[in-house]
Amino acid sequence: MKFKAAIFDLDGVIVDTAKYHYLAWKRLAASYGFDFTEKDNERLKGVSRMASLEILLSIGNITLSEEEKISAAEKKNAWYLEYITKMTSDEILPGALNYLKVLKDNNILISLGSASKNAPLIIKRLGLEEYFDAIVDGYSVQKVKPDPEVFLVAAQRLNMKAEDCVVFEDAPAGIEAAIAANMQCVGIGDNEILSKADIVIPGLYAAEERVGIGQ
Ligand code: BG6
Ligand code: MG
Repeated sequence: MKFKAAIFDLDGVIVDTAKYHYLAWKRLAASYGFDFTEKDNERLKGVSRMASLEILLSIGNITLSEEEKISAAEKKNAWYLEYITKMTSDEILPGALNYLKVLKDNNILISLGSASKNAPLIIKRLGLEEYFDAIVDGYSVQKVKPDPEVFLVAAQRLNMKAEDCVVFEDAPAGIEAAIAANMQCVGIGDNEILSKADIVIPGLYAAEERVGIGQ
């Protein structure tokens, strides 16, 4: 694959934060008296915080006012922060650090393109700040994936054309966003779920061999 810049989703690509999102959402559901399962949690991957809350409330058949929704999302995020502030570089997914190093050594520009408002904190906890030329997070955009905004802003910050960028994504909404941004995309995970990606690999540990380094 030929590319001059690489844009990485965070959750599920560089680190497995889904388990912490799950624990925090489960705690919120329990406070309303219903169970939130791991299968339910799949529906929240790549989805923004408020959109995730709407899905959770619909599962529990709970109606809240706008004000109550904001305070519920704050509560969930406070619980989530309890987990992620304890995170260390041990939680970087296999191969991610090595691939970032290889890209850097080959002068490929690197940006984060994440829906998470906690992305800068997580990158810091993992000790990966020095690898990123730009960090685009949930605060940088108005529209959420599958809208391409997050990746287009990343390309803009790197001063790159969309066609020179490759996106690494684990969520179908993220793959759709990359396609809509007119970028190449690598799916991380299951071939069937991510079939719209140009290529699907099981994790970043396979990237150097299967995707290459941009030449
Ligand atoms: C995405 C996750 O990266 O970020 C979603 O896949 C999450 O599960 C979303 O809801 C928003 O995260 P945050 O940290 O802003 O609540
Ligand atoms: Mg993800």
